[in-house]
Amino acid sequence: MDLPIYDRFAAGLHSLTAALVIVLILLGLGAEPLRDRIDEFAMLMLHKWLGMTVFVLTLARLAWRIGHPPPPLPDTTPAWQRSAAHLVHWVFYAFLLGLPVLGYLLSSGGPYPLNWFGLIDVPKAPVTKSLADAAHRAHVVGGITMAVLVLVHVCAALWHQFVQRDRLLARMRIG
Ligand code: HEM
Ligand code: HEM
Repeated sequence: MDLPIYDRFAAGLHSLTAALVIVLILLGLGAEPLRDRIDEFAMLMLHKWLGMTVFVLTLARLAWRIGHPPPPLPDTTPAWQRSAAHLVHWVFYAFLLGLPVLGYLLSSGGPYPLNWFGLIDVPKAPVTKSLADAAHRAHVVGGITMAVLVLVHVCAALWHQFVQRDRLLARMRIG
């Protein structure tokens, strides 16, 4: 039976975004506790560069999705699983755009200039201290929530692969 799969561009962007998000979460959560061993400033600078990259990749992913909708799920997928998957996917897109915006706002209130990989200067937003502080709090809560959602999403993918054995992972394969 032919399995409908995501196209290569969508699957490639998914893999790239997934790898970047995992690194982003580790850099974000690790920067403070590891500050005595690794340069905290460098970790956060890399975090900002990769976070801005995720923002642009997500816009590209969503634009592509308009013309290339996801392949239909098998008819056997229960309604609650369909709804849960759709919900988590859209919440992901909201976080993939919202977290970089919050990160940008919080960093705009900080003392360091913003750029993308040292190549492109990014102008700061004219934020007040209270807006930057609110963005900071929301970014921390949002970042931790995203880490939990990623765990749930990966566990769901592995459950399908090894318990349900319905080859769901193959829908997102690159090659
Ligand atoms: C780490 C960050 C990750 C993020 C932010 C993420 C995000 C997403 C999003 C937004 C979708 C929906 C795609 C769409 O319909 O437009 C999706 C689908 C999917 N993801 Fe991830 N993902 C991540 C990691 C992973 C990992 C590590 C795996 C594998 C173990 C995985 C397996 C899948 C699969 C199989 C689908 C397709 C589900 C379906 O067939 O409907 N994801 N992911
Ligand atoms: C999808 C993209 C992003 C994710 C998943 C993410 C995630 C995180 C996480 C998990 C933390 C650690 C929170 C904590 O302290 O417990 C963090 C911190 C931080 N992020 Fe992001 N982030 C993203 C994008 C960005 C961007 C684009 C910027 C700036 C342009 C940014 C700036 C920062 C800064 C400055 C901190 C340190 C905050 C502090 O002092 O505690 N982030 N981020």
